[in-house]
Amino acid sequence: MSRPDPADERLAGLRQRLQGLAYGGDYNPEQWPAATWREDVRLMREAGVNLVTVGVWSWGLLEPRPGVFEFGWLDEVMGLLGEAGVGVDLATPNAAPPSWLAHEHPETLPVDGEGRRIAFGSRVHYCQSSPVYRHYAARIAERLAERYADHPALAMWHIGNEYGGFGCHCPASLAHFRRWLADRYGTVDALNDAWGTAFWGQHYESFEHVGTPAARSRLFSGPNPGQLLDFARFSDAAALECYTAERDIVRRYSPDVAVTTNFMGSYKNLDYWRWAAEEDVVSLDMYAGPRDPDGPALAAYNFDLMRSLRGGRPWLLLESATGRNLTDGRNYARPAGQLQSRSLQAVARGADSVMFFQWRASRAGAERYHSAMVPHGGTATRTWREVTSLGRDMARLADLSGGVCDRAEVAVVWDWESWWALESPDHPSNDLCFPDRLLDHYRPLWEANVAIDFVRPDGDLSAYRLVVVPNLYLVDDTGAGNITAYVRGGGHLVMSYFSGIVDEYDRVQPGGHPGPFRDLLGIDIDEFAPLEPGETCGMQHAGHAGTATEWQDVIDLAGAETIAAYADGEFKGRPAATRHHFGTGTATYLGTSPDRETLRRLLLDCVTGAGVTPVLDTPAGVEAVRRRAADGTEHLFVLNHTSDEVTVGLGSGSTVDLLADGAPAPVGGRLRLPPFGAAVLRDAP
Ligand code: GAL
Ligand code: ZN
Repeated sequence: MSRPDPADERLAGLRQRLQGLAYGGDYNPEQWPAATWREDVRLMREAGVNLVTVGVWSWGLLEPRPGVFEFGWLDEVMGLLGEAGVGVDLATPNAAPPSWLAHEHPETLPVDGEGRRIAFGSRVHYCQSSPVYRHYAARIAERLAERYADHPALAMWHIGNEYGGFGCHCPASLAHFRRWLADRYGTVDALNDAWGTAFWGQHYESFEHVGTPAARSRLFSGPNPGQLLDFARFSDAAALECYTAERDIVRRYSPDVAVTTNFMGSYKNLDYWRWAAEEDVVSLDMYAGPRDPDGPALAAYNFDLMRSLRGGRPWLLLESATGRNLTDGRNYARPAGQLQSRSLQAVARGADSVMFFQWRASRAGAERYHSAMVPHGGTATRTWREVTSLGRDMARLADLSGGVCDRAEVAVVWDWESWWALESPDHPSNDLCFPDRLLDHYRPLWEANVAIDFVRPDGDLSAYRLVVVPNLYLVDDTGAGNITAYVRGGGHLVMSYFSGIVDEYDRVQPGGHPGPFRDLLGIDIDEFAPLEPGETCGMQHAGHAGTATEWQDVIDLAGAETIAAYADGEFKGRPAATRHHFGTGTATYLGTSPDRETLRRLLLDCVTGAGVTPVLDTPAGVEAVRRRAADGTEHLFVLNHTSDEVTVGLGSGSTVDLLADGAPAPVGGRLRLPPFGAAVLRDAP
């Protein structure tokens, strides 16, 4: 028998205490007098809140002077929450070092690529390599762990907040980078080889001569790509060291309590595949704009990515917005009713929680216009009515806690290192943006209600009917071999342009493009021909006239057939997309960015060819997702993301809607949903 994963055991403990899904948000009580705390706790109960994140920004108040700790207020808050049965996701406050630290140890402040030291006055003003910062951050984490490890309100540890992995150029970071490089390469000759320093005479004789890729080195020409890529890797690794150091501290005091840190989804600087492996549960902050037409698709892919990071296990939505957030540059209000469908979308895609930033709207500070569960207007507001109604929905879905989504039939390959390298400068086109290209591929599949998992290039692909590889610029031998073996063994693959171009050091693969994928795809790429922004070229696919944008590969067939061709311009008649039968599988290649409709047709053609079954056929803007409850019962989420009433055909079979008021209501073959409405259907017993 295999030993149970300790992470799963800690999570089971969390589930046990929550008795259902988690509902709540960030609670920053230090902004309010103690009388408000009592009112907060009463309202939390009214709203069905059972988990709040506390202490994220509290360092300056917990340790107002170096080594002087004031835990009294937090004791009281923890006590009140504990008595009310609200669990605490307790944060170590390292994302907001106190003013005295900046004052007494300015060397803990980060330095940007222009050599400017960042001043105190916002947050996240720390150098992640600074031994002084690390010392003080570890000390406050330890004091918290000591004090609250056995507190009945403690439900989970929240290490730091939204680690950023920002590259820092201070002397401590420089020394740390050199140590990291020496560890990675062993000898400086190995570094010279990896970075190709023979070009431009960049040869190094000692690790002590290597710098960070600071802006001033770019005065006349571009930086060294290998150095840039390694600096991205290093900055990620330095942040992860900060996280694991504090995780290990709290774990010493409370080995059974789950530990997380909140991710930012499709966030560039951190390789969340590596981070997730260091957590008990993956958690996410998601702020999809209420008005962004791509909001639901964007959220869906972030949710799928979070679920995939730990192989399909439930994850936690730790922050989202009840209404306005500040990331749009304009504070759009959330349309009435949208909170329900947007929040339950996370649960549909595997989240065991819906939580918000923040519980009560601030009166002062940078985020005073950010929405909250309790708005400035208090409980006599639409937001409060929707928040309490969502709390009732969450209670109705309690059985889903711990339940998983089945493995999808389609996987999309996602790799952070390739993303870093793809967007590095000095490419045939510097306009390539990985998240945009990813969304291009994800959107049409999402619109068709095709379930999707994300995988790493070297992940297990064997169970997928279709694997989609958007712009995998950098790939090592293991990843390339894995993808090739998948197709050889009968898999269906779609890969888009500028894939397989460089190795893990950002050195061009020898023997022509697309490097290790030439045999698999049955093509040679003679030339890259990027298009200008806004420039298009006609293309034909199966009788459909479309347009190519952004890029053209000049493809020579070497075994593949043409499935779409350019209709005009210099490359008229040459392949825009190809298909190759390889081993017992099929590899489709896209040598350009087709317009939305053409890409939709190309991808759905592959979906059909691979025998993938969509979840349900729904009207545009209506999402259908399946998730199982902990006991294995299947649930169908139907979410209306439009501002119109819709009718969705469900086919035969008798189901009940768990969200209906009163007892779960029977639903016939047709489901009517109000604007932004949601239903969660289960087979009638
Ligand atoms: C998150 C952060 C929160 C809050 C929120 C506002 O990035 O963790 O503290 O600032 O954004 O949207
Ligand atoms: Zn630094």
